[in-house]
Order: sequence, then structure tokens, then C-alpha cells
Amino acid sequence: MIRLTSVLLLLTLSLATVTTARADEMPVNTLPIADLKAEADYQVKYVSEALQNLEGDDKYDGIRKKVKRAGGTLAVVAQVIAHHPEAASANVAAADLRVAGIAIRDAQDAASAKTALEAAVKAYNGEASGNAEESSEWKGLIGMHDMMEVINFRSSRLRRGVRRLKNPDEEKLHAVAIAVLSVPMKADTHEVKVEAEIPDWQKMSRESQELAVKLAKAISENDADSAQSIFDQLGKSCKECHTKFRHEEE
Ligand code: HEC
Repeated sequence: MIRLTSVLLLLTLSLATVTTARADEMPVNTLPIADLKAEADYQVKYVSEALQNLEGDDKYDGIRKKVKRAGGTLAVVAQVIAHHPEAASANVAAADLRVAGIAIRDAQDAASAKTALEAAVKAYNGEASGNAEESSEWKGLIGMHDMMEVINFRSSRLRRGVRRLKNPDEEKLHAVAIAVLSVPMKADTHEVKVEAEIPDWQKMSRESQELAVKLAKAISENDADSAQSIFDQLGKSCKECHTKFRHEEE
């Protein structure tokens, strides 16, 4: 009898641990791995097209900012894939993809961007080099300014798309991107000048991640009404954070 009780107690305790772990889990981990792969693919294609349209090396400066942002976003998506519970089934060499994203982000000319892009395509297709560090810090994968520019671009696409959901697959990806970028947002608290306000920053960026994940799910269910209302909440969350933490003079 005693034994059974202690077994039950142990079971209850371990179940409790599992539940807490779930509650702490990142909302992006509940997105289908296919959505994350699709976003990685979006960024790889974006860089590939930008480089194809390039006439000469001297023009690289004109697309460098865009390539940098795409590379940073790709690095973040790769790391989200690496942490996802279904990472193994993704057939992506996620650590290599992160490294390639960083190389795209930092490329100073078209030739190095092309080399980095080739590495990204290989990693996306599951070819692991064996040299990439398993994980890295979230902070620094993409700069705050670039992160906000990407979030703003994807959010403006959503603003137009969310009402009608004409291309749900594409519109969903914009929400996935915002969700994914909200992860390093939470980790990068350098904009918070008063230490006691760090928890507020973390709460707001966590909320941004949660709302964007919900939005992606509403879009994939073709639920335009929910999508619109979640998008409005997301818009409020941007403003709330800007009011508190954005310092215009920077
Ligand atoms: C957790 C806080 C936080 C959230 C949430 C947030 N932002 Fe920001 N945002 C900032 C800070 C801080 C800056 C200024 C930093 C910088 O630009 O380097 C900024 C800057 C910006 C900028 C100006 C970028 C530039 O050119 O400098 C845009 C545009 C922007 N955010 C859009 C958005 C949108 C759209 C959302 C919501 C979908 C959002 N942000 C959510 C904190 C936040």
C-alpha cells in the first residue's frame, strides 16, 4: 500500500514537472515545423533572388541591407528549428543553417553572400557539415534595428492581407516571422535603461510571440475574423512597447 502511494506521489510530482516545463515552453515551439521550414525557405529564396538580379559586384551595396536582414532572420529561424520538439523530423541541418544565416548577414560583397547562400541551401536540405556549434545565444543573431525593420515589413504585409486571406500560406508566414523574431527580442534587453523594467520588456516580447503564433494559427484555419482581431491586438502590443521603451533620439 505504502509503495503504491509513493509511486503515485512520484508520478504526480513528475507530471507536475512536465506541466510546468510546458507552461515555460516557447510559443513558437507549438508552430508546425513545416511553417518554420517554409519561413527559412522564404528567406533563402529572397536572398537568392536579390543576388540573381544583381548586375555587378558594385551594385551589392544597394541590396546589402536587405540581404543582411534576411540573413539575420534566417539565423533566428534556424535556431528556432533547432529548439523545436520535432527538430529531428525536419531534415534540416539547423545549426549549419544558423551559421550560414550569420554568414549571409555579415557578407560584405556579392561573392561571399553567394558562398553563404550555397551553404544555406545545403543546410536547408539536411546536409550537415559536422562543424557547426549546436546552439548559440539568441541575443545578437539579428540586431534590434534590423529585427524591427523586418517585423514592420511583415506586419505591413499582414495589415493588407489579413482582412481577406487571399493567400493564406503567404500571409501565415508573415505571422510566423514575427513570432520567431520575438524570441531574440525577449533575449535582447539592451534597450531597457532601467534594470527594474527588464521583466516588462520580457513580458511584452513574450506577448508579441504569443499573439503572432495565435495569428499564424488563425490564418492557417482560414479564420479571418479571429485573424483580424489578433492582428489588432498585436498592433497594440507594438505601440505599448514603443511608448515605454523606444527612445526616439537613437
Ligand atoms: C518588446 C518591445 C517592442 C515590441 C513588442 C515591438 N517593438 Fe518595435 N521597437 C522597439 C524598440 C526598443 C525600438 C527602437 C530600437 C531601434 O530601432 O534600434 C523599436 C523600433 C521599431 C521601428 C523603427 C525601426 C527603425 O527604423 O529604427 C519600427 C518600424 C518598429 N519598431 C515596428 C514594430 C512593430 C510593427 C511591432 C509589432 C508587430 C513592434 N515594433 C514591436 C521595441 C519593440
